[in-house]
Amino acid sequence: MKHKRLKPFPKDFLWGASSSAYQVEGASLEDGKGPSCQDVKEIPEGTSDLKVCADQYHRYKEDIALMAEMGFKSYRFSIAWTRILPKGTGEVNPKGIEYYNNLINECLKYGIEPIITMFHFDMPAALDKRGSWGNPDSVQWFVDFARILYENYGDRVKYWLTINEQNVLTLSGPVIGTLHLPENCTNVLKEIYQQNHHMLVAQAKAMVLCHEMLPNAKIGPAPNISLVYPATCKPEDVIAAQNFNAIRNWLYLDMAVYGIYNAIVWSWLEENDATPTFAPGDKEAMKNAHPDFIGFNYYNTATVAASDLDAAEETALMGDQQSGREMAGIFKQVDNPNLPKTEFGWEIDPVGFRATTREMYSRYHLPLLVTENGLGAYDTLTEDGKVHDAYRIHYYQDHIRQIQESISDGTEFLGYNPWSAIDLISTHEGMVKRYGFIYVDRDEFDLKTLDRFRKDSFYWYKKVIASNGEDLSE
Ligand code: BG6
Repeated sequence: MKHKRLKPFPKDFLWGASSSAYQVEGASLEDGKGPSCQDVKEIPEGTSDLKVCADQYHRYKEDIALMAEMGFKSYRFSIAWTRILPKGTGEVNPKGIEYYNNLINECLKYGIEPIITMFHFDMPAALDKRGSWGNPDSVQWFVDFARILYENYGDRVKYWLTINEQNVLTLSGPVIGTLHLPENCTNVLKEIYQQNHHMLVAQAKAMVLCHEMLPNAKIGPAPNISLVYPATCKPEDVIAAQNFNAIRNWLYLDMAVYGIYNAIVWSWLEENDATPTFAPGDKEAMKNAHPDFIGFNYYNTATVAASDLDAAEETALMGDQQSGREMAGIFKQVDNPNLPKTEFGWEIDPVGFRATTREMYSRYHLPLLVTENGLGAYDTLTEDGKVHDAYRIHYYQDHIRQIQESISDGTEFLGYNPWSAIDLISTHEGMVKRYGFIYVDRDEFDLKTLDRFRKDSFYWYKKVIASNGEDLSE
């Protein structure tokens, strides 16, 4: 559909950006914080550890002031479970409560709406020892943690996100450093989808509790949603695209919104003897949960062809969030020849962003909150303290334009919070893969000054926000 006129962005649109605790804060074991799985995992060779990151824990005032200077209406960040509960359950760490009180208050001082992710890839290490999400008690661990957050911050925080990219945890756990398998596990698929089930139930219960305790708050899931295209118009490729759409995307949103398992995924799990076991009350809990919006991360689309049952190799657990994979007899991811790639090999598909949001809105009829989108690149700081990241500006121009196209298609959006507000450590590619509007002066292993510098995209985004998305010019 080519619009004759584009509709404007809503006037209370939440322009901002995102981060996550384990990637931005540093102070990884300071002030009583316990270790999370990220602090004890094996760091990929050649990349930084997560001890200091961007040091936001000590520099949050400076960072929030810079975000305010850009005109942010929102800042999406996560709360480190082990800062609040060092062992994951039990004793609360007052210093952890205090830190996020300060961070939230600092945002509010400038009129920046805090959007809180409750879980972003950082399971407490102590709970990994107790079986992680594979332990049926994990549902209660998470709900207890959520209650503490609502009790302490619910008077000021309106927007809550449950679990960041649960689909990535399930499909690419080893790459992110989160998959915990019990010894002698004989059916890995079953174990993974049992863990996934516990997360789904935990999320549902946390949403219900949020509505009970904080009637004015809004809560939603935050999966990574990428529309899947068929490689050709061969009907077999279309079936493959439907398969991967179901496994990658709809399973998570059908459950979060309608409380039901996607039929294609359920049948596939049945065939592999991998359906999850339901505890009493799970079904009801999932049905009772009703998100207020859909938070989602979008980086690009995926393209797939049909895969033969015998020819294909199972690589599902090995790809990262966006990279190619094959599941025997289900789909085989291929490159899309129509799309360019980032320096780190991720395809760039702004029109696919529009297509993804149209599809989500027509399936779920809930407002959309973009919780991530962005370009990882090798940025260079010039001698006079500048970062000329025109490539990032172009990426954002193209994606923001497509949001407006989608708004003009009738899709309802709450806001746009791309990744990332400030440079931080990538999930598995270290410090060199930068995403921020704010440059952090450090290298992979040399912490340098950790000073902040405004990139060209910083000034550009400021103008975009000031014009409520009307002025995207460079
Ligand atoms: C998302 C995650 O998958 O993508 C973030 O929610 C992550 O934690 C972001 O950093 C970019 O991915 P990467 O692998 O480039 O850091």
